[in-house]
Amino acid sequence: MKDYIVFTIGSNKQTAKDFAKFWNCPLGKIVVKKFADGETLAKIQTSVKDKDVILIESMAKKPNERLIEILQILDSIHRDEPRSVTLLIPYLAYSRQDRVSSAYEPVSCEVIAKAIESAHYDKLMVLDLHSPSIERFFTRGIKNIPTSELFINYYSNYFRENNLSFNDAVVISPDRGSNYRADSLLFAFRGAKKVVCEKNRPQPDKAEHLKIDGDVRGKICIIIDDIISTGNTIASAAKLLYENGAKEVLVGATHGVFSEDALKKMLTAGVRDIVVTNTIEQKLEGVNVLDIFQLLIQYS
Ligand code: R5P
Repeated sequence: MKDYIVFTIGSNKQTAKDFAKFWNCPLGKIVVKKFADGETLAKIQTSVKDKDVILIESMAKKPNERLIEILQILDSIHRDEPRSVTLLIPYLAYSRQDRVSSAYEPVSCEVIAKAIESAHYDKLMVLDLHSPSIERFFTRGIKNIPTSELFINYYSNYFRENNLSFNDAVVISPDRGSNYRADSLLFAFRGAKKVVCEKNRPQPDKAEHLKIDGDVRGKICIIIDDIISTGNTIASAAKLLYENGAKEVLVGATHGVFSEDALKKMLTAGVRDIVVTNTIEQKLEGVNVLDIFQLLIQYS
């Protein structure tokens, strides 16, 4: 019999509350202080002795600060001798730096994985890693929860409510890396086709799409991706799809980072509908949000 207590430092307040309600358990308190020299002190303020702890925190917005806070909180928890600790990082930052792409580059994702693995926890869960190959950096194991079923439900409803047919749909992978995400939707959308875009990154945070490998004329294009950060990938892909005759472009992505004016860029490019999950809590008007909570229960 588990005796849960749930914590969030601040990124995932609603999901932490949902866990507390589901398990009928308390929400623990955390305090984060900043020192004059820029150092952080994050610690728990509720005892976890002999408890089964769930710490949920996405590394969004200020990922470097989130990382040190997570590490400090895990140490603070460990020193109070809990029975077990589940670390849930819905959005793992640095996941796109998963390989060396130019001289002297670090593999930052591996660096982050090593830092996290140096902490005390029993189980680590994340959602929709940028690439499944990142799992190899976590030698103690990691549960990578797919989000495709949330998008399958969303678009099934969207097409039904708007009297649309999947015969008129094309699932778009905005680059080769998202190909398997597009496949995981395609099998559920009977009649839909898939098109993969070729993407270039001329410099960090920039994106340009050169060509697509199929016909999108008159089609409703559903771009499926893991992260929306600058919005440049989606804006550039949408532009190319419209140039190739797409009727409408819709976008689904797991992690809505929405850096700078990402939303504006995508809307300007003609994207009609944007849906993300709440791995990162959202307040942006006009962005639809899918709740990850049931997935977390299913996989925990
Ligand atoms: C890249 O490989 C990712 O899958 C996303 O396409 C990318 O991170 C999105 O970033 P941005 O919104 O800055 O183009």
